[in-house]
Amino acid sequence: MSQKDIGNKTPLHELKTTKEVMKYYDDWSKDNKYNNDMNDWEYSGPKETSQILAKYQKDKNIKIYDAGCGSGLVGLELKKYGYSNFDGADISKELINKVPINLYNELKQLDLNKKIPKKNDIYDVVMCVGTFTFAHVKAQALDEFVRITKKNGFICFTINEAIYIDYGFKSKIDSLVSCNLIKEIEFFKSNYLASKDVNAWLGLYKVL
Ligand SMILES: C[S@@+](CC[C@H](N)C(=O)[O-])C[C@H]1O[C@@H](n2cnc3c(N)ncnc32)[C@H](O)[C@@H]1O
Repeated sequence: MSQKDIGNKTPLHELKTTKEVMKYYDDWSKDNKYNNDMNDWEYSGPKETSQILAKYQKDKNIKIYDAGCGSGLVGLELKKYGYSNFDGADISKELINKVPINLYNELKQLDLNKKIPKKNDIYDVVMCVGTFTFAHVKAQALDEFVRITKKNGFICFTINEAIYIDYGFKSKIDSLVSCNLIKEIEFFKSNYLASKDVNAWLGLYKVL
């Protein structure tokens, strides 16, 4: 989310460490406030990314990794499109605890800025929605997403427009494309959190 103050607490851009980010989301999960806020603010990231995935991936039995799954809003949207086989990971234990029971096969609390404890080439799709933003998950995580995704699979993500260039996302994506590791399928400015005047790039890339 951008530099604008979108909540009733510390603006996201003031967060500096992973520990601060974890506490921020643990607190936001209380009384279902994260889910309620996303609903009130008409947060469209999960819907837009699931819609784009469904346009290109017709097989509903594929295995999906939801990186930064939070409370499971992406899983809920994927389910509407008929997908049912997904795992999730997030740094916030409290948000993970809000994920509806049996929505995900596996849920792990972990730091996506570290190596993901998964073998190479095991997922058909990696989704990462709302998680590439201030002090959250860094551009290097894209290397890990490519590593765990099968050849001809997809990675689908949003990147807060305010950090796209300054935090090295553009250069990381350009480098993965020029090394023929991924190919752009869709890349556009999404609505994301338009009610709060926060925009994000939405990318869908094929893993080569
Ligand atoms: C804006 S929320 C998006 C959550 C969910 N994908 C959604 O669309 O509702 C950002 C998520 O990134 C997670 N996150 C931030 N830094 C992380 C890290 N280093 N490793 C794993 N998850 C992280 C937060 O806990 C939070 O759930």
